[in-house]
Amino acid sequence: MQRVKDKVVILTGAASGIGRATAILFAKEGAIQVLSDIDEEGLRGTYEMISQKDKINTLKVDVRRPEEVEKMIDFTVKKYGKIDVLIVNAGVVRVGPIEDFSDDDYDILIDVNLKGTFFTCKFAVPQFKKQKFGSIITLASVAAHIGQLNHANYCSTKAGILGFTRALALDLAPYNVRVNSVSPGATDTPMLRSDVAKQAENRGVDFDIVKKEFEEEGVLTRWASPDEIASGILFFASEESTYCTGSDLRIDGGWTTR
Ligand SMILES: NC(=O)c1ccc[n+]([C@@H]2O[C@H](COP(=O)([O-])OP(=O)(O)OC[C@H]3O[C@@H](n4cnc5c(N)ncnc54)[C@H](O)[C@@H]3O)[C@@H](O)[C@H]2O)c1
Repeated sequence: MQRVKDKVVILTGAASGIGRATAILFAKEGAIQVLSDIDEEGLRGTYEMISQKDKINTLKVDVRRPEEVEKMIDFTVKKYGKIDVLIVNAGVVRVGPIEDFSDDDYDILIDVNLKGTFFTCKFAVPQFKKQKFGSIITLASVAAHIGQLNHANYCSTKAGILGFTRALALDLAPYNVRVNSVSPGATDTPMLRSDVAKQAENRGVDFDIVKKEFEEEGVLTRWASPDEIASGILFFASEESTYCTGSDLRIDGGWTTR
């Protein structure tokens, strides 16, 4: 059985990592998708990996730009008349000791992770309120639940996502729209690899040393594959989670159980 057959799904950050794995999984599960990303080449790569192309649309969207986000929502509603699932996945990481952290790095964290989430929901919410059904899924992180060395600003954006998700769940409950978040632990994507490389460089140690430290944070002592996060996103998108709203699913290999 396909769990999101012919559901209309919008996904941001679909060019890489967790977003790409989600697009591929949702295609197998029969979804009609509007896949977006700032990275056109990566988005093409995701498109090529999906066999049933007639159900796939790709759009270049920078989630920092409200007019581009609005176009994505309008395109979807005009073409399909509804949005069943909105997956707010685009995100960036910047790390470093707070005294050396640049304003530019701070701004990009806020603009993509928080404002990007706000814009994506802002333009979709009128349609959700009108149709009176749907599921919104945001991407928080293990970093929303615990501190990580040199991650203060990233942690603050992801903790912000948890607050945003809970509050929006209250606003949309009267409209039969559910809002939940997924909190991945260390997941093997270009984002995590760049994070580990930066930390290794800052500390003057090998990439593999920092990688091993991250692996040992989870009690399962390995990184997640992006597919393991995509299946949690699918749970919130599907009929299997109809009593969940305002909740957060930690898929972190036991990192936060210590
Ligand atoms: N990988 C991890 O270990 C991990 C852990 C916890 C949470 N997350 C979260 O999961 C989400 C996906 O991360 P990932 O690991 O797949 O990263 P990734 O870097 O592989 O993919 C992120 C995607 O977002 C896109 N993006 C960045 N800025 C954008 C913008 N302004 N507009 C549109 N798209 C933009 C990138 O081009 C990229 O395709 C993020 O929100 C991230 O914070 C990841």
